Amino acid sequence: MCGIVGYIGERQAPAVILNGLKRLEYRGYDSAGLAVLQKNGDIAIRRDRGKLINLEEMVRESPLRGNVGIGHTRWATHGKPSQRNAHPHLGMDERVAVVHNGIVENYMALRDELEAEGVRFSSETDTEVIVQLLERFVESGCSLEKAARQTFSLLEGSNAVVAMSVDEPDRLVCTRLGNAGGITLGIGDGEMFIASDIPAILEYTRDMVFLENRQMGVVSQYGYEVSSLEGETLNPEVHNISWDPVSAVKGEYKHFMQKEIFEQPRALIDTLSGRVNFEAGRVELAEMNLTPELVKNLRKIFILACGTSYYSGLVGKYMIESLARIPVEVEYASEFRYYLPIVEPGTAVIAITQSGETADTLAACQLAQEQGALLWSIVNVIGSQAMRMSDGYIAMNAGPEIGVASTKAFVASMADLFMLACVLGDMRGMLSAQQLRQCVDGLAHLPNLAGRVLDHDEEYQALANQYYRAENFLYLGRGINYPIALEGALKLKEISYIHAEGYPAGEMKHGPIALIDETMPVVAIVTKDHVYEKMVSQVEQARARGGLVIALASEGDESIRGKAHHVISVPLAPPLLAPIINVMPLQLLSYHIAVRRGCDVDQPRNLAKSVTVE
Ligand code: AGP
Repeated sequence: MCGIVGYIGERQAPAVILNGLKRLEYRGYDSAGLAVLQKNGDIAIRRDRGKLINLEEMVRESPLRGNVGIGHTRWATHGKPSQRNAHPHLGMDERVAVVHNGIVENYMALRDELEAEGVRFSSETDTEVIVQLLERFVESGCSLEKAARQTFSLLEGSNAVVAMSVDEPDRLVCTRLGNAGGITLGIGDGEMFIASDIPAILEYTRDMVFLENRQMGVVSQYGYEVSSLEGETLNPEVHNISWDPVSAVKGEYKHFMQKEIFEQPRALIDTLSGRVNFEAGRVELAEMNLTPELVKNLRKIFILACGTSYYSGLVGKYMIESLARIPVEVEYASEFRYYLPIVEPGTAVIAITQSGETADTLAACQLAQEQGALLWSIVNVIGSQAMRMSDGYIAMNAGPEIGVASTKAFVASMADLFMLACVLGDMRGMLSAQQLRQCVDGLAHLPNLAGRVLDHDEEYQALANQYYRAENFLYLGRGINYPIALEGALKLKEISYIHAEGYPAGEMKHGPIALIDETMPVVAIVTKDHVYEKMVSQVEQARARGGLVIALASEGDESIRGKAHHVISVPLAPPLLAPIINVMPLQLLSYHIAVRRGCDVDQPRNLAKSVTVE
């Protein structure tokens, strides 16, 4: 997803913009650039493909000065990564500049119209139609605000745009259309900031306003106006963001992913805090806005998500069906949005999304809402679109997750699903006070169990050094641990580029067991629960066929040692909470394998932290 930063105030804009873009590097990009309104009235631009370090060098060699500017990190959609396709883009008369995130779906038609009127294009991007339109309207006598309103109303698709003009050097205009990455206005003292994500401007201000779909902002040094595209003045809530800016930096860790894996005990504490009443043995989720009437009428829950968040949903199904006895259907959001879902009265949707901006998840939720479903979200980014469009939500409170591979948000979201299952079970009379107490006690021990897993990091590193050359991995799990097999495989795939497959262990004999040989490590989750014996049998079958078995087993399980090549021991947790603990060694195994293979752990190739385009 592209990164956007805008500034207007007393500071030198280039420094603020470059600093902000660096905070967004984790989102993945292939080009970077910035534009500044110079004192002489011209717009100066520096941009190229490559990393921000190149852009900083360019600015050092050829400095820019000015107090108004916009910057961008690009993740190419239309037009290959190159200098002329990098943002910002200038109109052909160099009077207007824009940066953009998203896809202008009708850009070809708009480009044809503009070229027929004599406009000369200089890039292959869809973005350029925006700046050429803006400049046409400005040159026809429109104010920047009016030109923006007319231009943005012509764009189809999900887009976020920030623009500036030489004719009005005291303002910036911006818009959010559809579910493209957000536009956040940062409110300073005699200065204003615009960003696509909170971490870019958090060190300058904590007071932020978030644009909603089809809204635009006009920003000057001393304030801002938000309106609908149709012109209705709006008064959006100002959010005070309590995140600690320091947590958005690596500290003593080598990678953000490593830092975030080690922050998981803290993330669990923070996500439980203020919700679990350990003394009373109860769970309260105030932001969910649940009423006895609403819960009594619940007939079905859809969980909609993508990637790792989808695997969290698969775990949540076991938790909710077990504790609350409500049928749960877990669907890939990218699938749900394109089939005709049956949404009957009494249906609720839970969107699980770390970023709160994933296009497929937002679109699927919108479809479900249109069909009458109640919408809840479990989300990490405060003020994100998913959070704001929901009838109730649970903030993961895991802190900024910068590494592209999701870790602490994943474990926090499973704890949140467990708490929700407890609340729903309690309100539906499915849980006795004693059962609820047991659930709360299980939650109370989670952070400590997580910390104990991390104490064995060197063991996982040694294992990684043994197997980092493997070309294929198989992850097996059963029941509530099958989603953890899927997640373990995804972690390895996305950061080490090794092919890995998660599979329900019971399915091996129906085909995949033919894959097993001495070159393919098999990671089997064999912790103590009601399918333990079945899993032990799977381990024996794999060994009998020459497989290299790495068993993830419960501490104290000596019998498994004779059956597997390697045993990773994890503390025993209540079966419904075990996935939260069992995933952690798999995260660290993947991390160390990726590091050993020299991969870019925090920004894996082809990936972005938040997929805001389809
Ligand atoms: C997780 O490691 C991946 N980076 C990816 O699958 C991610 O979980 C998915 O894109 C969903 O993101 P979200 O939680 O922000 O919606």
